Parts: sequence; structure tokens; C-alpha cells
Amino acid sequence: MLLMSAMAALLASSVLLEFAQSENSASSQKDHGHHNHYAEFAKVPEKARAKTNPLAKDPDAPIAGRKLFEQHCAECHGDTAEGGRKAPSLRAEEVQQATPGTLFWILTNGVVRRGMPVWSKLPEPQRWQIVTFVKSLTPSAAREPTTVHDQAH
Ligand code: HEC
Repeated sequence: MLLMSAMAALLASSVLLEFAQSENSASSQKDHGHHNHYAEFAKVPEKARAKTNPLAKDPDAPIAGRKLFEQHCAECHGDTAEGGRKAPSLRAEEVQQATPGTLFWILTNGVVRRGMPVWSKLPEPQRWQIVTFVKSLTPSAAREPTTVHDQAH
């Protein structure tokens, strides 16, 4: 009898778990429109989050990172990373307070279903350079024309 109820409890909990998981994926699909762009940060695994940026103190990293940003990211995130028509600001508090490892993970994995591409094809050092550049930005949405030259306009 004891064994039976233990098994029943086990069964019930695994059903619950499955239910929670399908609930989860369903809700991530139906919240289009009023979605929080920075919600993806919550999904970054602890280990990835804690990764330190090997190029955080490299004086060349923000410069190289800016070039890479202009090549690969500006078309969506805006020339000064203040946000564009297609993508949110990277100067926002959520991004600036995220750990370097978190940003690296987002770059590596993308948020494909929401239009953020995967950048795993960029070599790791380049991804860290971009992270260093993003972290060097002045927080908030304020435009800073002197930080990144707006060559196109
Ligand atoms: C084709 C457009 C596009 C390009 C190019 C692009 N992104 Fe994004 N990115 C997005 C979108 C859209 C989101 C919002 C995803 C969401 O809603 O969760 C995003 C989200 C992010 C986020 C998560 C925080 C946030 O603002 O939601 C970071 C960090 C980020 N992008 C960095 C970059 C970097 C760095 C590059 C260049 C290597 C880049 N992106 C290139 C479209 C783009």
C-alpha cells in the first residue's frame, strides 16, 4: 500500500512537471505584442551568466567591438545602440545591468523566434569584444552622438 501511494505520487508529480513545461512554452508563444524584450535574460543558465569576460580590460576590445557592432548589429539596434525600428535599446538598464556572461550567451544563442539572430559564427573573442563595447556604452536611452559616429546621416 505504501509502495502504491509512493508510485502514485511520483506519477502525479511527473504529470505536473510536464504540464508546467507545456504551459511554459505555450505562454512564451502567445505573449507577442506586449512582450518584455529583456525577459530572455531570465533564461540564461547560471553557469553562462557567471562567465567572466576575458577581454573586459583589453583597451582594444571596445574599439574592435564598436566596429563589429556597426557591421552586424546597428541595422537593428540603431547606430548608437539606442534601439531601432527592429530591436530594443542596448543602453537600457536591463542590458547594462546584465552580466557580461549573460550578454555573451544571448549573442551565442540568439532569440531567434523574436528576430535576434544567432552570432555563434563570430569567433568567441569577437563576441567578447562586442560585449565589452556594449558594456562601455552610457546607460539610458539618451543619444550620444559623440560615442558612436553616425556616419550614414
Ligand atoms: C535582424 C535584427 C537584429 C540584429 C542584426 C541584431 N539583433 Fe539583437 N535583438 C534583435 C531583437 C528583435 C531583439 C529582441 C529579442 C526579444 O524580444 O527578446 C534583440 C535582442 C538583443 C539583446 C537582448 C537584450 C534586448 O535588448 O532584448 C542583446 C544583448 C542583443 N540583441 C545584442 C545584439 C548584438 C550585440 C548584435 C550584433 C552582433 C545584435 N543584437 C544584432 C534584433 C537584432
